[in-house]
Amino acid sequence: MTETTVRERVFSGIQPSGASHLGNYLGAQVNYVALQDQYEAIYGIVDYHALTSVHEGEQMRRLTHEMVLDLLAVGLDPDHCALIRQSDLPEHAELAWIFNTCVPVSWVERTPTYKEKRDEGVENSMGLLDYPVLQAADIVIYKASRVPIGKDQAAHLELSREIVRAFNRRYGPIFPEPQAVFTDAPVVLGTDGVRKMSKSAGNTIPIFADPDEIRRIVQKMVTDPQRIKRTDPGRPEVCNVCQLHRFFGEDYLQIQDGERTARTGCVETKELLAERIIERFRPMRVRREELAADPGHVERVLAAGAAKVRPILEATMREVREATGIGRPAGTTS
Ligand code: TYM
Repeated sequence: MTETTVRERVFSGIQPSGASHLGNYLGAQVNYVALQDQYEAIYGIVDYHALTSVHEGEQMRRLTHEMVLDLLAVGLDPDHCALIRQSDLPEHAELAWIFNTCVPVSWVERTPTYKEKRDEGVENSMGLLDYPVLQAADIVIYKASRVPIGKDQAAHLELSREIVRAFNRRYGPIFPEPQAVFTDAPVVLGTDGVRKMSKSAGNTIPIFADPDEIRRIVQKMVTDPQRIKRTDPGRPEVCNVCQLHRFFGEDYLQIQDGERTARTGCVETKELLAERIIERFRPMRVRREELAADPGHVERVLAAGAAKVRPILEATMREVREATGIGRPAGTTS
């Protein structure tokens, strides 16, 4: 790459709605870290999105702070990426409103994650329905072309692309169509072994929990429901514990074989998984504790991130206001 080459931009967002868990890490955060050196990367703590489920101010502030610590601990380097709090840049919400006027209601009503969350008992608010429209605005306000996300978010990204096409059809080719970047992890299942691991389902393995807490959570995981007795052969393909071993050691095929032949029991396989999870995140946990000891660090990182991205987003919004005819005409003064 020559020095004059403009690097492609990456954007992704994560909700401050609870502690980072294995699904977040394996599905998305691994790629946040991998892409920060190759691309101009922007990562957002999307607190406007989290308002759909976090309804208490002090809790929102605390979870936002914690999420920044999580992201720094897993390896994001504020010198190599911009870390932002969505609500520090309210133009995200402004662009979402403009997109709302281009999006038929039927597009958002059929979004699988909307139906899932509503069925999980998340309040069925306008915000929940509009969630993917704000997500599209988050991405394209920076004209980001790549979006590291877990596979559970594939439909949202497809919708972002449709929204961009609808806007561009109406107003001209302002936005690029963003593309998803996936890790090799599937949608990670929760401790129940059935549903997607998610904060709202309450079936997560938080990556920065105390080692004893991780041991306790993993020990309660549901394995192959047909393996009742220790001597019953297991089916690793339906056992989430066996599936997760894939990400925690080269010997996962042997581990799965041990289950299949009943050479090993579920308890042992879980104990090994818990220890491997604890070991993998140990250095990150230590780093997180160091970072947490400096109370001003998080806000300094967020202020620097907002300052870095503000010119990009302002340039986009000038184009959008010009194309749509809203706001004071360019060149006039107040
Ligand atoms: P959130 O906070 O629910 O999830 C953050 C990231 O973690 C991934 N993820 C998973 N991946 C695999 N298996 C799982 N069980 C699992 N659970 C979570 C998600 O795919 C996501 O990448 N809607 C976004 C937040 C967002 C966003 C954006 C993302 C708002 N604006 C713009 C990208 C670009 C979300 O799911 O957050």
